[in-house]
Amino acid sequence: MKRAVCPGSFDPVTFGHLDIIERASQQFDEVIVAVLENRTKASLFTTEERMEMIRKTAAKWSNVRIDSWHGLLVDYCKANQVQAIVKGLRAVTDFDYELQMAQINLQNSGVETMFMATSPAHSFLSSSIVKELAHYGGDVSTMVPGVVNDALKSRVAEKK
Ligand code: PNS
Repeated sequence: MKRAVCPGSFDPVTFGHLDIIERASQQFDEVIVAVLENRTKASLFTTEERMEMIRKTAAKWSNVRIDSWHGLLVDYCKANQVQAIVKGLRAVTDFDYELQMAQINLQNSGVETMFMATSPAHSFLSSSIVKELAHYGGDVSTMVPGVVNDALKSRVAEKK
């Protein structure tokens, strides 16, 4: 059983994330989408809300399951017999940070990180950009699934 994890803060999940999750699911027997904490970012949605949005949009892939973890990614990998971490790379600007994390994770646990090139259609997309646009009433309907678009609109309205 080859099991991979797609880790991220997914605050919220975008079509860019879903593209990577779908393509990872074609390469591994099982893919776990793990919602983790990124201590450098303040979150708009709770962990449970983020998981529910992924659950609703990734349900069509039978070998994908959703989980969450409060701790180091490598400890999650050890506890769940995960052989590979899969990350999407959008542009060279992602590379330094992702390489550093991949090397630390490899050194600390031996877990491999595999990078997938983001589809060009999604290379500009990020959860932060989506939140910024949504905050000012911009249209993000081509960037996120309908459930996420609705959740963003309600959360932005609540905050005003
Ligand atoms: O979607 P993001 O915010 O780029 O994801 C980053 C994330 C959550 C995968 C990363 O911050 C992470 O792995 N957090 C868990 C704690 C950890 O293992 N940190 C890396 C040690 S170098």
